[in-house]
Amino acid sequence: MEKVNLDLKDLDLEKLAELDQYILTLDDPVERLINVLHRAQDIFGYLPPNLQLYIARKLNISAAKVNGVVSFYSYFTEEKTGKYVVSVCMGTACYVKGAEKVLKRVLKELCVEKNEVTKDGLFSVKDVRCVGACSLAPILTIGETVFGHMTEEKVPGVLNKFRGEINED
Ligand code: FES
Repeated sequence: MEKVNLDLKDLDLEKLAELDQYILTLDDPVERLINVLHRAQDIFGYLPPNLQLYIARKLNISAAKVNGVVSFYSYFTEEKTGKYVVSVCMGTACYVKGAEKVLKRVLKELCVEKNEVTKDGLFSVKDVRCVGACSLAPILTIGETVFGHMTEEKVPGVLNKFRGEINED
């Protein structure tokens, strides 16, 4: 049995209860560890170390196993992110077509550094490697939405679109 202390004080108990409910619906949660992690990230927005440890304890598996899966899949994040994650591709095709300027403009528009969350919690920005859409270079993604042939001039409009969606909520 692991001796690491589990500190729940930074975890929202209602969210933990929601995760517990989900785990209860699974016949074999250990076999479905990836599903559990997906659900946990959906609920919490990211997978901090204490949440990974909570999941490990809950499923009676090692924290190293949980962290191994989290580290292996780039989808999972251990850092807090904004509601919308803006990813700017810095792969070769995108880079030679001006991705760096796009990234700089995004950071300037949002007044953040890479991997920081905006003050309103809506956005965080990261650079990524080739996402396999080189014909649309340079590209930027926000969540599941892909924006191709990006220019720095298009950046404010793209961001405003997401701000607009939030205002319509
Ligand atoms: S290099 Fe950006 S999508 Fe391939």
